[in-house]
Amino acid sequence: DAGEHESYMRKEILEQPTTAQAVLRGRLDDRFGTAHLGGLDMDARDLRAVRRVKILGCGSAYYVGQMGAGLIEELARIPADAEAASEFRYRDPVIEPDTLYVAVSQSGETIDTLLAVQEVRRKGGRCVGLVNVVGSAIARECDGGIYLHAGPEVAVASTKALTNMFLGFALLALQLGRVRDLSIADGKRLVAGLERLPAQIEEVLATESELVEVAHVLAEAQSLFFIGRVRGFPVAREGAQKFKEISYRHAEAYQTSELKHGPLALIDPDVPTVALVPSDELTERNLGALHEIAARSGPLVVVTHADVDLGGIDARRVVVPRNEPELDPILLTIPLQLLAYHAAQHLGLDIDKPRNLAKSVTVE
Ligand code: BG6
Repeated sequence: DAGEHESYMRKEILEQPTTAQAVLRGRLDDRFGTAHLGGLDMDARDLRAVRRVKILGCGSAYYVGQMGAGLIEELARIPADAEAASEFRYRDPVIEPDTLYVAVSQSGETIDTLLAVQEVRRKGGRCVGLVNVVGSAIARECDGGIYLHAGPEVAVASTKALTNMFLGFALLALQLGRVRDLSIADGKRLVAGLERLPAQIEEVLATESELVEVAHVLAEAQSLFFIGRVRGFPVAREGAQKFKEISYRHAEAYQTSELKHGPLALIDPDVPTVALVPSDELTERNLGALHEIAARSGPLVVVTHADVDLGGIDARRVVVPRNEPELDPILLTIPLQLLAYHAAQHLGLDIDKPRNLAKSVTVE
């Protein structure tokens, strides 16, 4: 049972420093700055033959798939994208022999994802799995894969499995990168970054008490935005998903860059925005959008790094530690889990079993 914790979700959030270590264990090679993924069943030649990566998953697994696609494209310089597995099969997709298909699923039993894998394989494509539950239907159906080793996840809203999905993608991106042009120096930089992550996740979790009041403010809103750019956009999508799943508040994710092309019309003092503003090449542009929101008196919560100066912008600041920029998305995600959790708790809702949702949807 959830033991001393009020819920499985909180227990699973707090387990992340340990479970993150489990997915990395034995897979990092600091000498050559790469990853070893025996379960993938692909040698260097197979890995080099990959010309494109297509990631398939549902819900949070789809959003973390978007984070993974970004990592792969960045590190391996192969075009990569993620698609909702629930849509994939219904558009009679073209399956390419030199595309690596990656199914991502905590349970390994989500029917939409399983059917997507079958569609790929029926048409002769190679599909590997990033799956948590060993021996599950998706794991069995795939050509090989990376087990996530997050341990059993009970709460409907995925937290520790999602973090390990991200780390699984980081390992895959590193390996795909190192058989191509990713330098050994960059490989080592990322291996060191991955090794630092569990302790940094712990640091974020240690700020929980500071996030409670922010969560209560957000819980009072009927509608809110989560915004981010490039690496931050899938984080915003996942943050909005968590928030709506368990707090039943309308939460919508947008690219920060798209704000001025529509949703800015909705910003007012009753509509808060949670903005992801990491310290990177887009910081200045992100701050520009925050000014637009502040000018319309939209309440702001900014998830950011210590060196980002918000200038005069009136915002609640949530600071996370910096890692290598490619790996920042997962550290930006952790406070959003806590915000959703404390909002739902403030509202007195059943956090582990939100209404209308199942942990895994095994029928079409
Ligand atoms: C949904 C769950 O139905 O399935 C989500 O409510 C989950 O929380 C999604 O992310 C995918 O599940 P799985 O097991 O395939 O990762």
